[in-house]
Amino acid sequence: MKITLTYNLKRRDDSKRPDYFSECDSEDTVEAISTALRARGHTVQALDAEYPQLISYFKKNRIDMVFNISEGKHGRCRESQVPAILDYLNIPYTGSDTFSLALAMDKALTKKILRAENIPTPDFQLFISGEEKLNPDLKFPLMVKPNCEGSAKGISISSVVNDREAFYNKIKEIVHLYQQPALAEEFITGRELTVGILENIKTVILPILEIDFSTCKDSGEYFYSWRMKEYQGNKELGLTPSFCCPARLDRATEARIKEMALAAHYAVGCTDISRTDIRLSEDNTPYVLEINPLPGLHPRDSNFPVMAYAAGMEYEDLIAAILASASRRRGMN
Ligand SMILES: Nc1ncnc2c1ncn2[C@@H]1O[C@H](COP(=O)(O)OP(=O)(O)O)[C@@H](O)[C@H]1O
Ligand SMILES: [Mg+2]
Repeated sequence: MKITLTYNLKRRDDSKRPDYFSECDSEDTVEAISTALRARGHTVQALDAEYPQLISYFKKNRIDMVFNISEGKHGRCRESQVPAILDYLNIPYTGSDTFSLALAMDKALTKKILRAENIPTPDFQLFISGEEKLNPDLKFPLMVKPNCEGSAKGISISSVVNDREAFYNKIKEIVHLYQQPALAEEFITGRELTVGILENIKTVILPILEIDFSTCKDSGEYFYSWRMKEYQGNKELGLTPSFCCPARLDRATEARIKEMALAAHYAVGCTDISRTDIRLSEDNTPYVLEINPLPGLHPRDSNFPVMAYAAGMEYEDLIAAILASASRRRGMN
């Protein structure tokens, strides 16, 4: 197959916030996916979606399939920008479509859909101006985060607030800094889990991954904050969470969590691949935080490949499975 790999490269730009490019991909990921596809006999052209002639490139070059990991440029619909161009030009691509990518980027809207589907998610309230009255039913501690970001952008230990004053300060900071609504959510004390779904001939729910932050106590961080994600593995900073896959869970809880992740995948309309982030509360109730239709695919550092390895797959198999699922969906094999 003739494949174009679309991506946005993580870059350094001191004029921007330090987390500005955190969602974007590293050269290692681009290289690893290209190599995996070539190893299966495909011709691969890697294309940075920053490329100004993106549209004319796709008009000029006949492509069988786009392997899309592009995070896009800006705005709530950024992950949909490349897929929207491809939809317009009728070029097939891997992963979720324009609509699902945009929906999943809006955490509050996604949570409304989860609620409608009876999938538990923490109680929440959206703050658009930052002046709205706090719903008295919401119980402190509350987590305050930007409504439309990924890679834990805007999420730090100061995002967990215990009183009204700290709450409104954080809400206003987020609205101002990220120029978007802030999402307030009840903080779920408990375990951090993530679940990968891979549509591969039959849909597979990968072994659940637990990220355990108890080994990071000296760092002061205790959940998947931006610092934790950005500097994951840094021993000097003490940001060395342990990964356990499959997570040690009793049978019933494991089955419940897997069922929830699959239901979330379908509720958002994801295709080929998704990763659902879950917190398991101290009373053993799982809550969906969000669904990631474009999970990171770094062969060593990203959560999704870790789960695929635990299922006995090699990196090449994972990339081949995503491509095969997209091809099958389009009636191409
Ligand atoms: N309501 C919450 N309760 C407990 N932890 C949370 C909550 N919301 C976010 N977190 C922590 O912050 C991390 C990032 O939040 P998430 O909603 O998944 O955003 P992102 O899209 O940036 O990954 C989570 O993996 C979790 O560790
Ligand atoms: Mg997340």
